Amino acid sequence: MRALDVAIDAAHKAGSLIRDRFGQPQQAEMKSPTEIVTQVDRDAEQIIVRTIQQAFPEHEFLGEEGHAPRQNAEHVWVVDPLDGTRNYTLGIPLFCVSIALTVRGRVVLGAIYDPQRDETFGACMGGGTHLDGVKVQGCASTRLDQAIVYAGFVPAQSPNNPELSMPMLVRLRPSIAAMRNLGSVALGLAYVACGRIDLAYQDRLSPWDMCAGALLVQEAGGVATDFAGQLISSSSNSIIAALNPDYHRVVLEIAQDVSRMRSPASHQVMTDVPQPGLE
Ligand code: 2AM
Ligand code: CA
Repeated sequence: MRALDVAIDAAHKAGSLIRDRFGQPQQAEMKSPTEIVTQVDRDAEQIIVRTIQQAFPEHEFLGEEGHAPRQNAEHVWVVDPLDGTRNYTLGIPLFCVSIALTVRGRVVLGAIYDPQRDETFGACMGGGTHLDGVKVQGCASTRLDQAIVYAGFVPAQSPNNPELSMPMLVRLRPSIAAMRNLGSVALGLAYVACGRIDLAYQDRLSPWDMCAGALLVQEAGGVATDFAGQLISSSSNSIIAALNPDYHRVVLEIAQDVSRMRSPASHQVMTDVPQPGLE
């Protein structure tokens, strides 16, 4: 329990800085052709790392803004100091702090803090998921045709890493009620855990985007895996999460089907087939 208290304390300290500077002009820099970063992201990561280091000096960090653990480190805190940076710079009040603790890669604790609504989501392995200290009830909806689905999109495109989220949504659309994209996948996962959204999925992510949220969903009684059906760990890069395991299964099948059709190998096969009228 102590580790969760430390994680929540760190998330609150970072969240308070994030809230104080929200609405002020931010110098947004491009970290990559698709990713932006601000000084707030970096300062928030420093606050989180310093706070946790005071309690656990021997632990290591995998942070979006630069902290990297040694290979084979046992206890690694996986930190997204500000998930939803683009929203933040646009003045859209949808973003959060996401902190997870992994032990030999396995997620054992997750904390997500929404500074705008002052909502704190926390989970320890085996202890359930709490929202502001109250255990969430984990009431899964039962009709996919009434389900609200968070579909996340990351703009990066590469021939070896084709986008799956949009073709998945095209397949899913006739079976669901509505789609949401909050622009913060960690916040979306926290909302799945407490039953506000029925399912969330996104590919081409980093572990800090989803480790904490995955544990929140699991501890609320749900299922969270990557697109290959593997448990979320400190090396995952995609997620499907739902309280209702049937919803998870349907979307996992679609993910696997779409990835087979979109894989560079199948593309090769398709382009190798002689095209009528082109020879
Ligand atoms: P971030 O704000 O911490 O970068 C919407 O863009 C969601 O996808 C956010 O949760 C964002 O996290 C995440 N994301 C992950 N990789 C991204 C990328 N390369 N470009 C944009 N968003 C990314
Ligand atoms: Ca971030």
